[in-house]
Amino acid sequence: MSGNDGSGVRRGSAKTRREFLTSAAAVTAAGGMASLLPLGCEQPKSKMGQGALAPMLDDVSGSRSLRAHGAARGLLVGCAVNPDHLDGEPEYARTVAEQASIVVPENAMKWAALRPNPTQYDFRRADDVVVFALSHEQKVRGHNLCWHEAIPAWFAGTVTKENAAQYLTQHIQTVAGRYAGKLHSWDVVNEAIELKDGRPDGLRNSPWLELMGPSYIELAFRTAREADGTALLTYNDYGIELDTQEQIDKRGQVMMLVRRMQARGVPIDAVGIQSHLSAGDAPGAGLIHFIRELRAMNLQVFITEMDVNDRKLPEPVAERDAGVAKTYRDYLTPVLAEPNVTAALTWGITDRYTWLNGLPHASRADGKPERPLPFDYDYNPTPAFFAERDAIDGRTAQALPGANPYAPFHPTQPQRPQFE
Ligand code: G3I
Repeated sequence: MSGNDGSGVRRGSAKTRREFLTSAAAVTAAGGMASLLPLGCEQPKSKMGQGALAPMLDDVSGSRSLRAHGAARGLLVGCAVNPDHLDGEPEYARTVAEQASIVVPENAMKWAALRPNPTQYDFRRADDVVVFALSHEQKVRGHNLCWHEAIPAWFAGTVTKENAAQYLTQHIQTVAGRYAGKLHSWDVVNEAIELKDGRPDGLRNSPWLELMGPSYIELAFRTAREADGTALLTYNDYGIELDTQEQIDKRGQVMMLVRRMQARGVPIDAVGIQSHLSAGDAPGAGLIHFIRELRAMNLQVFITEMDVNDRKLPEPVAERDAGVAKTYRDYLTPVLAEPNVTAALTWGITDRYTWLNGLPHASRADGKPERPLPFDYDYNPTPAFFAERDAIDGRTAQALPGANPYAPFHPTQPQRPQFE
């Protein structure tokens, strides 16, 4: 992508946030921040009384990090990571280590990454993520054991109706078995619902469905539980966040799938709501009710892949950042107030590597790279960072019984308080 994200700062010359803060701290020590400003420029007093630059020194690490604010409110907070950057880019590794209490490999645990051929596994990159996380006292989500994408090229010519169950079982036994006891949770089955495929059960016509029928889902979850008795087994999906008719319908099919699984005694512990949003999206009461229904079913909810695309916002960076931050705030504040929402991850930590800027065609009409995440290309915290942190803080206030702004909850089953 171009070297300039529209913020007016050439990327090559831009200081990283840390470099800026380090130099600013040095200036403070030497002669005060005023010497950084043009002569005669009065520093407007901020709430901290340190002048206009104070917000930039509003440290975002240590006790001010997303990780620390989450820990104070019973919430795991983190992001998807790429092991190539963890060991190749110190600023990336440092930001992930300071901001995340949970990480998920963006691609390193997918079939395409693990399975170079039908008989071998390559765990090197997946291991790198697990080692990094455990050495930084972070939890790890596994993503994912069964999906219709990221299927290796050899799959189509090798896996048949006759051997598909064996391939799925062996994959899950090997992969989930390798990390047994080390992972917080697994996305066991990813994105199994697709209404456009027209099935009464809403299931996607994925290769797994075509090879095995709907039973692949139950087999995947049961095998995962046998391979790892401690990881929280999760069904993960997208397009279930809003109160549009399409998303209401899809959410309903996800709920029916989960209810069918529970009725058959299939082990499931959580539902992942991916939360790939567009600026301006806001949850309706439907999402909160869905989360509360899952709570009555004793299921946790994870926000698994949040980012906010800014493709429809005007070009000026300040406007885009404000629109993205408002969406983070509007979405996360009510969602994180729900006590069975126990983890929130963004799909990446820095705009520098967001998948949204890696798509085959620029998604913004002006061709500018998108700014969907809590840190920008140069690892400066964006307004979205502060919006996410505020939403985390709001969890304490709104999670208290009766304080929630949404309609009182009437569970369809006796509510077994597990998340009070
Ligand atoms: O690793 C190969 C590389 O060897 C090869 O040279 C290159 C050229 O094609 O491809 C590389 O693999 C790419 C992979 O990302 C790693 O970079 C794949 O082509 C590319 O399709 C893949 O895209 C990922 C996509 O899932 C499909 O797996 C995105 O990075 C990732 O952000 C995206 O994440 C998904 C979640 O897993 C599920 N929810 C939706 C989310 C966004 O689509």
